[in-house]
Amino acid sequence: MTLTAIIGGTGLTRLPEFEISHREKMPTQWGEPSSDLIHGKLYGAEIVFIARHGEKHTIPPHRINYRANIKALKDTGASTIIAAAAVGGIRPDMGPAKIVVPGQIIDYSHGRAGTFFEDDLDHVTHIDFTHPYTPSLREKLLDAGFQAGIRVVDGGVYACTQGPRLETSAEIVRIERDGGDLVGMTGMPEAALARELEIDYACCAIVANWAAGKSAHAISMDEIERNLLKGMADFARLLECLFKP
Ligand code: HPA
Repeated sequence: MTLTAIIGGTGLTRLPEFEISHREKMPTQWGEPSSDLIHGKLYGAEIVFIARHGEKHTIPPHRINYRANIKALKDTGASTIIAAAAVGGIRPDMGPAKIVVPGQIIDYSHGRAGTFFEDDLDHVTHIDFTHPYTPSLREKLLDAGFQAGIRVVDGGVYACTQGPRLETSAEIVRIERDGGDLVGMTGMPEAALARELEIDYACCAIVANWAAGKSAHAISMDEIERNLLKGMADFARLLECLFKP
């Protein structure tokens, strides 16, 4: 049987309707994951959930132990990861509360432990990362969104910044010029690490705010929380359509 993992981001430290069966501590050779692994059933499907920022939302993006999180999910038997992530919208059709299933990544983060392949190697390994998200899993998420009647945006380039501060408006202009459509802080190295361990991985990005300089007002935590609440309700409906037989 296949086990699907959901990595919950900002605004998603728990899932409504999730029937928890047990919690699992899963230390790894790379350290402790962000939270216990929480096993249970979601709309009839066996899933495992991990809170990327910790269950109390205390771990900032640059301090997340991405290697421990991905290795713990591998060790518990997950073959698929659905990553929920809050983002800022840059492209005009990626406004607040929208769900986007991005197709590409540009990584602006730095100083993060980003590979499993560094010490005690038999040979140097370079993963193919041309398509950073697993195409068949992206299609499943898009189909589920369609069935749920949600206007999920198909594709777009996820720009991963270092955080934890938000960007300057000049940085967003630069990212846009580079081809970035949405901006978040946690997409990398998470996606690459999943590929290194041969786990299918795709992202449901939930737009929390217009990116810096894309609206007339300053970005507030209030606004982010409000939009995430709506986006997460849609995300839950999408998951229902994905998992319900
Ligand atoms: N920038 C980066 N990460 C984010 C943003 C943003 O504007 N909103 C939510 N996560």
